Order: sequence, then structure tokens, then C-alpha cells
Amino acid sequence: MPQAIAYLNGRFLPINEARVPIEDRGYQFADGVYEVILVQRGKPFRLHDHLKRLQRSASEVRIPLPESLETLEQIVLEGIRRAGYESQLVYIQVTRGVAPREHLPPPHLKPTLVLTFREFEPLPQRLYDEGVALLTYPEIRWLRCDIKTILLLPNVLAKMEAVDQGFFDALFVLESGEITESTAAAFGVIRRDTVVLPPLGPRILPSITRSLLYQVAPRAGLRVVEQPLFVRDLAQVDEAFLASTTKHVLPVVRVDRQVIGSGKPGPATRRLLEAFLAFLDQELGG
Ligand SMILES: Cc1ncc(COP(=O)(O)O)c(C=O)c1O
Repeated sequence: MPQAIAYLNGRFLPINEARVPIEDRGYQFADGVYEVILVQRGKPFRLHDHLKRLQRSASEVRIPLPESLETLEQIVLEGIRRAGYESQLVYIQVTRGVAPREHLPPPHLKPTLVLTFREFEPLPQRLYDEGVALLTYPEIRWLRCDIKTILLLPNVLAKMEAVDQGFFDALFVLESGEITESTAAAFGVIRRDTVVLPPLGPRILPSITRSLLYQVAPRAGLRVVEQPLFVRDLAQVDEAFLASTTKHVLPVVRVDRQVIGSGKPGPATRRLLEAFLAFLDQELGG
């Protein structure tokens, strides 16, 4: 029987039995980095890209990866096999390690490596058919959102506020009105045959799904450009979407009270999603 499992510092075990000491710096300081990888038909999608990003995140926060990328790949593949679900989400987290609570970590700390392997539940089809609404929310995150750290309290608060107000999610916006991204997804808009993405930089995670749009969009008859996007621009765009590992390409039909385009998922976003799913299928040997 498939089951949710964990891997903790060298050992696979049932997820409910995995324990990390209370003085782990991930728990006390959010001192760690992570990745989320989609598995379909038992195969990980873009595993290498995720492991490279994990390596970069760890290096940017000066946490030595406890295993080589080759070993991490083997652990991921073995975990997927043991968990046994066709569709899974693999979570990888590396924290700086366990030590008495001092801001300055002791030298040569051993990082804590945790993975979980759970069944993946896709979003309800209704959200793709009807599109979702986003609430703009002040960009209160730090200036290194390009690093995938476990420091996600601003994202949690923004998501809670959005859901409290009846929205699907929040869209982070700078004081100038410039849009960065959602709490757990890249944001983009479509004008005629052009996908417009906010330029990458310290405010935005280099999303792997987003990076694949450069390959996928031409197959949907679209080109991709990077340009700063402001909330005021949304009145003039035809379509908008979120892009992430778990959402693929999800239509956005309203931001606050601003209806996007026709207020329904548009044809270009639908083609982009279809082209993305075809690409995923092709990569996993479907
Ligand atoms: C803040 C943020 N931006 C963007 C993304 C999308 O990244 P990816 O496409 O690599 O899943 C995520 C994914 O969780 C995220 O947390």
C-alpha cells in the first residue's frame, strides 16, 4: 500500500515517526532552505533543476549541503519508490543543524536533511475552469526572495488574509504598485500574443515552472518578454495567470476588484496550460 514517508538524516521512516530536536535552527530561526518537486507516473519532473536551485539557495545562506547532488537524487528516487504513489510531492528541507540557541552558529555544524514523500492532490478542476481571484498585499518579505528559504511567515500571513477575504491567494505588491509574485507562485499576464513576466531579481523566486514557459509558450503561439508589471496595468491586459510546480498554469480572472479581460479564463492561458501539460507528459515519457 502506498504511504506517506519521510527521510531524516540517512533513514527512511513513516512520516509520523520522524522527529527533529527542538534546538534545530530551522525550528528556532527559520534557518534553512527547501524545494518542492512534482512526481507524476512515479517520475520526478525537472529534478535536476530543483536540486541545482537547492544547491544555490544553500550556498547563498552558507549552509553546506550534507550530500552531493548525485546522492540527493538517489534519495529522492528511492523515496518515490518506497512511498509508491503515482502522483507525489517531494519536499526537501536542509536546515543549518542543531545547536543551543545563539544567532551565531557554532562552526562545523551538521545540517539536518529532511525529505517527505506525500500523495499529490491536484487543485480542483473548477479552479482551472473558472479562474481565481487574488488580493493585493503589501510586499513585506525580505530582500532575498530569490533564495528559497523556509522563512515564509509573510507568505502565510498574506495567504490567510486573502482567504479570510474570500480570495484564492495574495499577490505581493511594492509601494510603487509594482507586482512581484504570489505567496507560492510566479505571476504573469498576457497581452495579445505576448506573455509578460516581471523581471527576475532579489524580489522574486526564479520559478522553475516560469522558466519553462520560455520553451512552452512558442508551442502555444505566444512569445515571452520580461517587463515590470504594475497593478494599474491590469486594466489593460487580456489574461493573467499563476505558475508553479503544484498549479502548473492557473488562470487569474480578478485582482482585488479589477476584472482581468473578460473575467473568464482566456484562450491564451488555456493554450499555455495545455502546452505545459503536454511538455510535462513528454518529459516524463508519456
Ligand atoms: C514564492 C514562490 N514563488 C514562485 C514559486 C513557483 O516556483 P516553482 O515553479 O519552482 O514551483 C513558488 C513555489 O513554491 C514560491 O513559493
